[in-house]
Amino acid sequence: MLSSPILVTCGLPYANGPCHLGHLRTYVPADIFVRGCKKMDREVLFVCGSDAHGTPIVVNAEARGLTPKALVSLYHQHFEEVFREMGVKFDHFGDTDDPACHNRTQEMVKALIKAGHVYPKEIELAYCPKCERFLPDRYVEGECPYCGKPARGDECDMGCGRHLEPGEIKNAVCKVCGGKAEYRKQVHYFFHLSQFKDFLLNYLPTLGGTTSARNYALEWVRQELKDWCITRSMAWGVKFPGQEDLVVYVWVDAPIGYIAFTEEWCATQGRDWQSYWKEGSKIIHFIGGDIVYHHCIFWPAMLKGAGYGLPSAVVASGMLKIDDKKFSKSRGNVIWVKDDYLQRGLHPDLLRYYLASYTAHNKEVNFSWRIFADKVNTELVGALGNFINRALTFTAKNFAGLVPAGEIDPEVMARIKETMQEVSAALDEYEFKKASDSVMSLADYGNIYFQNHEPWKLVKSDMAAAASVLYSCLQIAKALIIFMEPVMPSKMQNAWKQMGLEGDVADRLFSEALTPLNVGQALGRPEILFSRLEETSVKELEGIFAQRMAEAEGRSKAVEKAAEKKKEISFEEFSALDIRIGQIKEAGAIKGSKKLLRLQVDIGGEIRQVVAGIAESCPAEELIGTLVVVLVNLKPTKLFGIESQAMLLAADQAGAAVLLRPGQPVEVGTKVR
Ligand code: 2FM
Ligand code: ZN
Repeated sequence: MLSSPILVTCGLPYANGPCHLGHLRTYVPADIFVRGCKKMDREVLFVCGSDAHGTPIVVNAEARGLTPKALVSLYHQHFEEVFREMGVKFDHFGDTDDPACHNRTQEMVKALIKAGHVYPKEIELAYCPKCERFLPDRYVEGECPYCGKPARGDECDMGCGRHLEPGEIKNAVCKVCGGKAEYRKQVHYFFHLSQFKDFLLNYLPTLGGTTSARNYALEWVRQELKDWCITRSMAWGVKFPGQEDLVVYVWVDAPIGYIAFTEEWCATQGRDWQSYWKEGSKIIHFIGGDIVYHHCIFWPAMLKGAGYGLPSAVVASGMLKIDDKKFSKSRGNVIWVKDDYLQRGLHPDLLRYYLASYTAHNKEVNFSWRIFADKVNTELVGALGNFINRALTFTAKNFAGLVPAGEIDPEVMARIKETMQEVSAALDEYEFKKASDSVMSLADYGNIYFQNHEPWKLVKSDMAAAASVLYSCLQIAKALIIFMEPVMPSKMQNAWKQMGLEGDVADRLFSEALTPLNVGQALGRPEILFSRLEETSVKELEGIFAQRMAEAEGRSKAVEKAAEKKKEISFEEFSALDIRIGQIKEAGAIKGSKKLLRLQVDIGGEIRQVVAGIAESCPAEELIGTLVVVLVNLKPTKLFGIESQAMLLAADQAGAAVLLRPGQPVEVGTKVR
């Protein structure tokens, strides 16, 4: 080994929904980096795990009738499976609800308390009087105090993007019952982040990784550094030491998961986890661009405060767009890795190649099926696959499938060496596109070399020269396979086998690309490595995506319509409405109208005639005896020449009226308020 061990981590996926392409934008390059490190003979440990805590998981589990634990386990398995299929090979994939994570979190929080970095403070928090509970994070919605946009409890994700501290949100509404929340006092614990300003101003300029992440964090530190409330009143999570009713905020235990997963792995190997987390260790975090604040500010401050080693690099990936539109699950602008990709029989490596080669790691990636097909057909089928296949089939045909006895062209060796240096340097700079482009230009070079040397003519005139050309081409193929393995591990393993080479190409160093193939070594049977993606498949994939977008748009229009903002009214104005429980006594059709029914409704000792537009959703005969909600003091009006003396309340579900009825028997005439 050439250097001290490296720890690479990936931002932990919330175990709260399936894996989408946005996730892979971070995990695939991280995996490429780790595979590349191994090829540069560096000892590297790669850990990740499910982010199990936080309110969204509890809210989602409640909505699905599951325990948070069961929901987490469901998605934990899902992520493990997708990562395995995608070739993202963690040494360990844990779960922040593991005992190791509970322990390490409590240890670290205790260390922070002991060092005086945590203090209690009474704050005003959103509280739902109806649900009789405090409303942490996702349990509350309202307005951002900074930009006024609709926001959730802990972040302004539709406006300025700020992290919101508990109690900051304005006009809070309970997410569970929809009721207006009030503000109540409660003691919570704060991490003294503001005391770490000088430390961060000194540390951040030394932090490696993406420059944009570092600069963004520095700017933030220069501007404002507020203390963080690190406790929440809920049951699901890691208990705050000595306080049974509080758990730590999910952003405390999630990054601590990185340490816990290192401990778990080290325990299985009889290794010392502290060697990865002491001062001077090499810790590299791969994250999505949206969580830079947490990893470059909050996390290093916590590590410093508790006496652990600090990250040496934070590598933040650019965002993902689909068809040039902002990725959005609710708008249907999403590619689900399992359903939309793997289950359609598409090879994982093609997607890995797309993600690595589309653009620089810190830039935005745009995904479209059209570009995907173009890249596969032109770059993988046309250049890389074509070259390897050409070299192999030509040797099979003209040299009995054995590495020919010739000389490798020194120019070829020099070119391989140059590529190796370029790829290594690019990986060290987290420039995955540069690395894969460099390999692809070696493939182009190979194709040109083959073309220019015309071995098909040489085999007829100068067999020795033909042997040298093919030997050189096979050596290029070997190099291409080794260099491209980090990006396309499974395809390159297949090609390795076709070359007749033993073992696992994942275990081969980049430098082995310079070791000449053995003359006379038998090659394997050449096969097509990449197949074209035909126009019909592209159209089909585009169609599925377009349909999803259209459905989501229909759904969101209906929701928007329902949520149209109406003028606020006072309680007095509301009290002016006379709404009562009524009972339908008679119901009949109205001649000439498909939609209207004529009803006689008892509103408590008085019968009112009502004309209601419910014929299409409620058959008249089923309505007799039904308890309904009636607006009694609406000005009478005539419909189809028949006087309507009240109105029944109904929900407008995509244009169809769904009558409102009391959930249990209520006396006719009872007031609704
Ligand atoms: O933003 C997210 O998806 C978080 N689950 C990432 C956590 S990363 C870390 F700090 F653990
Ligand atoms: Zn805002």
